[in-house]
Amino acid sequence: MSKFGLTKTIGSWSLEKYKLLRIMYLKHLEANTGRKSVCVDAFAGCGTYYLQQAEKPKKIDGSPLIAAKMKPGFDKLVFIESDKTVFDELKHNTKRFKPTLYNADAHEILPQIIPELMAKNTSVAMFLDPCSLDLPKELMHELAEIPRLDLAINFLSSFVHRTAHTEKGRNDINKLYGHSAWQQTTGKGTIQKHANQYCKVLHSIFPYVTAPMSVLNSGNRAVYHIIMASTYGK
Ligand SMILES: C[S@@+](CC[C@H](N)C(=O)[O-])C[C@H]1O[C@@H](n2cnc3c(N)ncnc32)[C@H](O)[C@@H]1O
Repeated sequence: MSKFGLTKTIGSWSLEKYKLLRIMYLKHLEANTGRKSVCVDAFAGCGTYYLQQAEKPKKIDGSPLIAAKMKPGFDKLVFIESDKTVFDELKHNTKRFKPTLYNADAHEILPQIIPELMAKNTSVAMFLDPCSLDLPKELMHELAEIPRLDLAINFLSSFVHRTAHTEKGRNDINKLYGHSAWQQTTGKGTIQKHANQYCKVLHSIFPYVTAPMSVLNSGNRAVYHIIMASTYGK
C-alpha cells in the first residue's frame, strides 16, 4: 500500500506490455537525438503497482515511471489522468521527475496540446492505455497530424470480444473502428481477428503500423494486444 492507500495490483502479463513500451521509447529516443523529445502518457494511472501472484509483494513501475526513467531521457513528460484519487498518487509518485500533469479527460487535453506537439524539431512518443474502448477514430486522425509521432496503443481485444454482444458494447466498438462491418467477425480466433481488423483501421490513418502483439495471461489467452503506429515518413 502506498501512503495514499491506493497502489493497485496488476497481472504479471503487464510486464510484457511494459517491455514493449520500453522498446518503443528506447528506439524513439535513439532516433531523435538533437530534437526535443516529448512523452505523452494519456491514460497514465497511478505510476506504481504491486505484481499479483508474486511470492513476496513486488513493487513495479507503471507506464509513467517507465517513461520518466528512460535513458537517454525525454525532454518533457506529459501525464494525463482523469481520476482525482489516482491522479494524486501519480503526482506523488512522479514528483521528482517534474512532469507536466493534467487531472483531466485525455479527450479534452490531447486536442489542446497537439499544436505544441507539432512544433518544429519536436518528436513525440505517446502511450494510449485506456481501461475501456475509449479511442474514437476521430482522435486517431487528429494524432496522425503530428509529424514525428511514435504511438503505442493498448487495444483491449478481449474486452471487444466480451462486450460485442451488448448494444452499448457494439456502439462503442463502432466508434473505435469507425464502421460496423466488424460485427460479422465470428468463429475461432475472434480476439485475434478483432485485433487484425483494428490494425487495418490504423493502417488507413497512419503510414506505419505494426502487427498486433498479443499479451497473454497465465492461461495463454490474449488479454489485449499492443499495436504501434508511427507518422514518420508521412
Ligand atoms: C489501464 S490504466 C493505466 C495504466 C498505466 N498506463 C500503466 O500501464 O501503468 C487506465 C487509466 O486511465 C484513466 N482514465 C480513464 N479514462 C480516462 C480519460 N478519459 N482521460 C484520462 N485518463 C483516463 C483511469 O483512471 C486509469 O487510471
